[in-house]
Amino acid sequence: MTSTVTTIDQVGSYVGQSVTIQGWLYNKRSSGKIHFLQVRDGTGLIQCVAAKNDVSEETFALCAKLAQESSVYIQGIVRQDNRAQSGFEITVEHVTLVGDSSDYPITLKEHGVDFLLDHRHLWIRTPRQRAILKIRAEVLRAMSNYLDGHGFTRVDPPVLTPSSPEGTTELFQTQYFDEEAYLTQSGQMYAEAAAMALGKVYSMGPVFRAEKSKTRRHLIEFWMIEPEMAFVEHPENLRVQEEFVSHVVQHVLTYCTAELQTLGRDVSKLANVKPPFPRLTYDEAIEWLQKIGHEIAWGDDFGAPHETALAEQYDRPVFIERYPTQIKAFYMQPDPNRPEVVLCDDLLAPEGYGEIIGGSQRIHDFGLLQQRIETHQLPKEAYDWYLDLRKYGSVPHSGFGIGLERTVAWICGLEHVREAAPFPRLLYRLYP
Ligand code: 4AD
Ligand code: MG
Repeated sequence: MTSTVTTIDQVGSYVGQSVTIQGWLYNKRSSGKIHFLQVRDGTGLIQCVAAKNDVSEETFALCAKLAQESSVYIQGIVRQDNRAQSGFEITVEHVTLVGDSSDYPITLKEHGVDFLLDHRHLWIRTPRQRAILKIRAEVLRAMSNYLDGHGFTRVDPPVLTPSSPEGTTELFQTQYFDEEAYLTQSGQMYAEAAAMALGKVYSMGPVFRAEKSKTRRHLIEFWMIEPEMAFVEHPENLRVQEEFVSHVVQHVLTYCTAELQTLGRDVSKLANVKPPFPRLTYDEAIEWLQKIGHEIAWGDDFGAPHETALAEQYDRPVFIERYPTQIKAFYMQPDPNRPEVVLCDDLLAPEGYGEIIGGSQRIHDFGLLQQRIETHQLPKEAYDWYLDLRKYGSVPHSGFGIGLERTVAWICGLEHVREAAPFPRLLYRLYP
């Protein structure tokens, strides 16, 4: 009988027929006469049953000694099985060992997180990590789908840069032949230039922050998606953000039900993520925090406990807008009625996940931007090109940056952002 090579997610099309799946042994139970092999191939997990009476002695002996994470070809007949999670089971005819795997370090028991991070290259094989990586990919797909479908053009900014938008303290410095260079912290300034060429643009890629923060929200290298829009002012910027985030969450709820289930995510907490999102001004947020007993004064930045308290009041993300000029980046447009605050927003996710978006309207006036570059004592030469954008056909424009891992951590309900990156770069962790 011929056997069709297929993937585990497709076996349902071959009930009663012989298939060959190519995968890895996830787990095994054996009795004297029968081996139950749990096999995974990246598309799913299926139980393959090898009974002593149905297979050759050689295959039965091989099943007996198969170690966890050995790679195998398994040939067998597909059976409907309503007790199985996948709905199907395979009655084994023949097993071929592709690659042995003795002393696999990650057993199915509990391991400490440092051990798991040291073995991240293997840890990603577990069902939970697979589910997270799938959802991360779906989040990126939903983001591109939304932006591509709304007239944005993707433009990729450089990673090696002569200057930085987000302050000078958290930069990774490197040598660029005879010059100093920095790993990008944000593609924003390049996105602004590109918006003057293409109208609506976005970037998507890794950014770097040499932040000595060891919290569950901080990575050293993370991905940021940064839309930028010419002729768009602050209120429209918020509208795009809430529509964009809602689209992403609803997309994941629709297309990742199995993965969310694997993670045990309470999806009812995501169901209401739809526009409009609540909006608080920074002033209102400070006043409310003071009222409930936090020690915080006007002009202070929010810490994690403040963000969590603010966001806890709502069933969807909340915008905090118009922060004090003194605690925000140099390029943000002042509120015309109150120059001590800027036209910016942070979007705080519910359930303690904190800020997932930072956005603002950008200064478009040449003189004002030049003055800000001076007061922030930024190296003027490195910003000449950025000032040019205000010299040649400047227009009001706005944009925002959303952190991919924080968004994924929130949607998946993870304890820490490190699980949202395939190979997280953390404070003091560069391996593997
Ligand atoms: O608020 P941030 O610093 O904003 C910018 O960089 C702007 N230039 C973006 C723009 O307007 N185009 O960072 C934006 C987002 C944060 O809201 C957060 O989600 C994420 O990036 N982020 C981090 N994620 C993980 N680890 C870190 N260390 C992060 N720092 C920021
Ligand atoms: Mg921010």
